[in-house]
Amino acid sequence: MHFLDIHKTDPAELRAILDMAVEMKTRRAGQPKGVRDADRPLDGRIVALIFEKPSTRTRVSFDVGVRQMGGDTLVLTGSEMQLGHGETIADTARVLSRYVDLVMIRTFEEESLLELAENATVPVINGLTNRSHPCQIMADVMTFEEHRGPIAGKRVVWCGDGNNVFASFAQAAAQFGFDMVFSGPETLDPERAVLEYAASRGRPVEIVRDPNLAVQGADLVLTDTWVSMHDTQTAKERRHNQLRPYQVTAELMTHANPDALFMHCLPAHRGEEATNAVMDGPNSVIFDEAENRLHAQKAIMRWCLGV
Ligand code: CP
Ligand code: NVA
Repeated sequence: MHFLDIHKTDPAELRAILDMAVEMKTRRAGQPKGVRDADRPLDGRIVALIFEKPSTRTRVSFDVGVRQMGGDTLVLTGSEMQLGHGETIADTARVLSRYVDLVMIRTFEEESLLELAENATVPVINGLTNRSHPCQIMADVMTFEEHRGPIAGKRVVWCGDGNNVFASFAQAAAQFGFDMVFSGPETLDPERAVLEYAASRGRPVEIVRDPNLAVQGADLVLTDTWVSMHDTQTAKERRHNQLRPYQVTAELMTHANPDALFMHCLPAHRGEEATNAVMDGPNSVIFDEAENRLHAQKAIMRWCLGV
């Protein structure tokens, strides 16, 4: 079973994955990180982790997760593979399927992920594309519920760029039953297809240009870098100018519910999309999010492999 996008996986399956993640996290509590899980569900399995973009969290959490479950990893960068020198993704998928049991890929175009999945005979996991980041949202929903209980019915407000992480959140709204609000400049609105999908599922994204109004009643306030890895650096200054009014500050957070959580998928550019006072403030759960990447992805891998 592939894990390609939040909205391509049945809500009951997403819930089962999160339940498994919580159970596995609880069972490991207090153990040294290198200790293998008692049941070693990936014993004898090899997982390829392909990166065509930089990564800290995704790379380390997948690698550690596989090892904790008793499996082995191969970490590959696109430029070191023939993939970066003209071999097709389809052929790469067919070859890797003969060697490994699971492939995780972080790439640029969504089409590359889909072509890999179409041609692989082993499960493929999306570790981020220009358009989505579903593993991140699984960890974020897990983190919210750990702190505040069910996310269903909550108001989730995104301040900033309508990027890949936002898209996966908007796709998750219908799957988990929360209300999604976007607050950012019109020039950096989410893709129309993302908004149309959310509306078609009965969870239209509410667009509120004034961030002070947007965060009113918010249970969760989120942001992300103003310049993503696939954005051209030449657009940096323009993006910064457009996004500055959407910086998450302690003042902005006073307009949200008093117990509203703050999340950021990281890496952050402190002092740009969010101030240190918010990043390190009492409502910030950014490092719990980062930790939960490990637990959520372990459950995703088990679900993909049916083990
Ligand atoms: N949040 C996230 O995916 O971080 P990395 O880019 O470090 O993997
Ligand atoms: N939007 C960011 C997320 C990084 C985890 C990017 O794509 O660079």
